[in-house]
Amino acid sequence: REPVAVAIDGPAGSGKSSVSKQAARRLGYGYLDTGAAYRALAWHVLSRGAETADADVVVAATEDFDYAISLDPDRYWVRVGETDVTDAIREPRVSAAVSGVARVPEVREAVNALFRSLVAAADAPGVIVEGRDITTVVLPDAPVRILLTAAPEVRAARRSAELSGEDAGAVAAALHQRDASDAKVVDFLNAAPGVTVVDSTELDFAQTVDAVLDVVRAGT
Ligand code: C5P
Repeated sequence: REPVAVAIDGPAGSGKSSVSKQAARRLGYGYLDTGAAYRALAWHVLSRGAETADADVVVAATEDFDYAISLDPDRYWVRVGETDVTDAIREPRVSAAVSGVARVPEVREAVNALFRSLVAAADAPGVIVEGRDITTVVLPDAPVRILLTAAPEVRAARRSAELSGEDAGAVAAALHQRDASDAKVVDFLNAAPGVTVVDSTELDFAQTVDAVLDVVRAGT
């Protein structure tokens, strides 16, 4: 039997990654971070000293893009070739470049096919797949589809707490800019028909995980 897919979308700083990872642990499911593929490709382009704003350069870079990711929520890693890029893909220079890579249609098609095959092959009863267009494009038929949101000021505050030491105003501005670029490509601010909204503005981490688990249990 194919693993059950749980699709979770939301904007940057909504807590998607940490909430999805914890929900996966609680369910004994796999966890697929789709943003990591776009980040790893942006890292790959940057590491060649190439320009992420040039779509042709980005498409050419996909040809020798040897990408691997762990679906184990307790042992998360991302690799490009032999290089472990788990931490490097979170650097601000990658975050600033990633939207340019993600807006290329050929890139989206290639990674979407990869995501679907990773879910189908997962060695787990289910997989939580987290991103921006999972509920609408990657897995529109998933039995559970969730949009995880939070008020913009709460998202900025959470993200700057994560990146301790960085200027909160700069973090908020970078987050806002990335969401604005990404929103031109996919709508992750409004729930598509049949998608359940979980708003974490007033919830702490544990409550958000519980809210997500309630939706999963209701749908599976
Ligand atoms: O989720 P995360 O913030 O790590 O995603 C990094 C970037 O990858 C996003 O800013 C967006 O440009 C892109 N992305 C996407 N579609 C997805 C997941 C991520 O375009 N499903």
